[in-house]
Amino acid sequence: MIRTIGLPAETKDGERRVALEPSAVKSCVQAGHDVLVQAGAGRGAGFGDADYEAVGAKIVASAQEAWSADLVVKVKEPQRHEWAYFRRDLVLFAYLHLAAEPELARALMDAGVRAYAFETLEERGGLPLLAPMSEVAGRTAAIVGAHYLAQGSGVLLGGSAGVPPARVVVVGLGVAGTMAARGARGMDAEVTGIDIDLHRLMEAHERGIVTATLASSEHAIGEAVADADLVVGAALVTGAKAPKLVLEEHVRSMRPGSVIVDLAIDQGGCVETARPTSHSNPIYETHGVIHYCVTNVPGQYPRTASRALSAAIAPKLVRLAANLDDPLLATALNVADGRVVHPTVADALGL
Ligand SMILES: NC(=O)c1ccc[n+]([C@@H]2O[C@H](COP(=O)([O-])OP(=O)(O)OC[C@H]3O[C@@H](n4cnc5c(N)ncnc54)[C@H](O)[C@@H]3O)[C@@H](O)[C@H]2O)c1
Repeated sequence: MIRTIGLPAETKDGERRVALEPSAVKSCVQAGHDVLVQAGAGRGAGFGDADYEAVGAKIVASAQEAWSADLVVKVKEPQRHEWAYFRRDLVLFAYLHLAAEPELARALMDAGVRAYAFETLEERGGLPLLAPMSEVAGRTAAIVGAHYLAQGSGVLLGGSAGVPPARVVVVGLGVAGTMAARGARGMDAEVTGIDIDLHRLMEAHERGIVTATLASSEHAIGEAVADADLVVGAALVTGAKAPKLVLEEHVRSMRPGSVIVDLAIDQGGCVETARPTSHSNPIYETHGVIHYCVTNVPGQYPRTASRALSAAIAPKLVRLAANLDDPLLATALNVADGRVVHPTVADALGL
């Protein structure tokens, strides 16, 4: 039975989001829960402690007090120093990305935490708790891609009179990929969208979101990437490790100073040469190509991202707190009774 809900401050590098805005906390209070908000948790997103107090939350001074709640809701997967708060009767609701975090999965199992992941919750064929952040991350990919091209090859996405626009390749035309394509098209780049799902390609083609589409294959990706100024990786198989689609030899074939933004890095990355980076140290170069592989991209637009995330998770959180076995939340459940119970996640972890 869930009586208290904890909202700790985020601690991942450069993470300024908060999982619930005050209006969402109000819904929890109205549903009869005590909500413990760590002091300053909403500051990065522009929400003060007084805003939370005004809707009935209790402000607590320490992370430990927020984590002492029956159910803890947060944005990013618990960082290593937060694992000390894990305990048998804890319910956790957050992004977990366990396929890429085997040690976190083990820590949750060993402690007996009941952990629900935002990113695996499926509803009507979509991922409603991943989509809002994929939207923000996709839009951001176009912005950071354009930014690092200035630092690298010096190519401007839209080109100029007498100079053709830049070539952008988006691998995976789901929510994140579509928004990245729209962002790049908005800056007048030439955008090729690649997906394994022909319906996605048709939709992007019909809506004019991309200038060209390609059915996903190693050959097609290799050819497109060799000619690209900016590659955005956004392919996902729900719960699984990201498929490696852009191979090292493809990266080697790119012009020096070109840019790769691998959004799928939170699931291990769909670019072979990608490894996780942080907001403090967002890029590195391999084969002369700038790689931007930040695992919490929306953290840099905390106001918009927090409001979007909060709106998506609040109704689910209220249902979860009322009934941990609510069938609506079944696909979110990743760890229970010391086991990884989500079949794709378990598979990805070799369990
Ligand atoms: N780095 C970040 O901060 C951040 C933020 C938000 C989302 N993401 C990540 O972005 C990724 C995409 O998320 P989404 O919500 O857009 O997912 P989505 O399910 O909406 O889209 C994924 C797309 O990948 C396609 N795909 C799967 N296998 C493919 C293949 N072999 N070749 C080509 N395309 C393939 C699917 O058909 C689908 O269209 C996820 O890994 C997500 O976690 C990262």
